[in-house]
Parts: sequence; C-alpha cells; structure tokens
Amino acid sequence: MISELLRTKTAEKHKELESMMFVNHIMDNSLSIDNYKKLLTINYIIHQKLENRLANMLENNLAQKLEMNSRFKLQALEKDLEYWQIDSLTLPALDFELFIPDQNTASILGALYVLEGATLGGNVIKKHILANPNFKNAEGGLNYYGVYGSELGSKWKSFINVLNESVVADDYDDCINSANQTFDNLIKLSKQLN
Ligand code: HEM
Repeated sequence: MISELLRTKTAEKHKELESMMFVNHIMDNSLSIDNYKKLLTINYIIHQKLENRLANMLENNLAQKLEMNSRFKLQALEKDLEYWQIDSLTLPALDFELFIPDQNTASILGALYVLEGATLGGNVIKKHILANPNFKNAEGGLNYYGVYGSELGSKWKSFINVLNESVVADDYDDCINSANQTFDNLIKLSKQLN
C-alpha cells in the first residue's frame, strides 16, 4: 500500500527533520521558547505557502472525501504566532525555490501526506512542552500541535484510507517523490532559519 511505502521511503527525511527540529530537547522537556518559536515559524511559512494551494489543486470529490475544510491548520498557527508575538510581516523570504507538486492526484496527495503527518507527532510534542518548565501556563500558545485534539487518530486514519484508495500503483513513484520534495521544503527552511 502506498501509505506504507511513503512511511519507509520518507523515513530518512523525517529523521533529518526531527533532528533539525530539536527532537532531543522536546523529548527531555528542555526546549527553549526561542527554538519553539522557530518551529512555529517554519510550520507557519510552509502552511501559508502550501496549505490553501494544495487544497485547491485537489479534484472536488477528493477534497470532499478528505473533508479538506476541516484540515486547515493555518489559523491555529496564526493564533500561536500572535500568542508568542511573532510578527508574520517581518518573516524572511525563502532563499530556495519552493517545491510545488504537479497537478495530479498522486503528487498532490504525497505533499499533503507530509503536511498531515507534521501534526501526527503533535500530541507527543504538546505533552512534552506542557511538562517543560519553560512553558508554564503557555497552553494558549500550543494551538498548532494540538490542532486535532482527540480526533488526531481518526483524522489520520481517514486521510490514509483515502490516500490508499486514490493512488494507483503506476503513480506510486510520483507520490513518493512529491512527499520527499515536500520534506525537503521543510528541511531547507529549517536550515535557512537556523
Ligand atoms: C514539520 C516537521 C515534521 C513533519 C513534516 C513530520 C511528518 C511526519 C509524518 C508524515 C508522519 C507519519 C509517518 C507514517 O506514515 O506513519 C509522522 C509521524 C510521527 N512524527 Fe513527525 N514530522 C515532523 C516533525 C516531527 C517532530 C519534531 C517529532 C518529534 C518530536 C515528530 C514525531 C513523530 C512521531 C512520534 C510520529 C508517529 C506518530 C504516531 O504514529 O502516532 N515529528 N511525522
């Protein structure tokens, strides 16, 4: 199934991104506020550039099956930026060319897999941040990582079901390439903002 291939074929990029996103500090509850702001900024810029665009590229029936209207996360990121007083107008322009998938279902879903997956570790991340003394009483600034709340598992499952029934074997490579290049967008931006 394409979902399993995506997981294994993007695992290396996930690992690289995790290490650029302070996974060790997140997990030992020592993430600094400055580095958390960096994570929010990276996610904000990518969502601001890709979220709406990808949703609009989907065929209508697929967008409905995915309930795309319930998957937008830019607003949660905007709330977090406001809470942490990050001014979106002063954020830097990209110093690399952003990858945008081709207009076909497999490529679009490969890119969406990355944006959906980005909050899959969110509950774990949120739990650790709440246990981190630097973030006492800061729940109001954790909207993005808790964006689906208790629906996280079911939203992921339904995304994966639609993904698996929509991508045919001939298009697996397109889907995987698109996911890896979307991971590269995040990796390049993490490097730029470091
Ligand atoms: C923007 C950055 C990130 C992206 C795009 C991303 C993407 C993904 C994707 C696509 C998956 C799904 C893998 C699958 O097919 O099963 C996933 C799972 C996961 N990620 Fe990330 N990830 C990001 C950052 C992180 C960070 C920083 C952490 C840890 C601190 C993390 C922890 C996890 C965990 C624990 C899972 C598995 C969750 C589960 O299966 O319940 N991720 N991520």
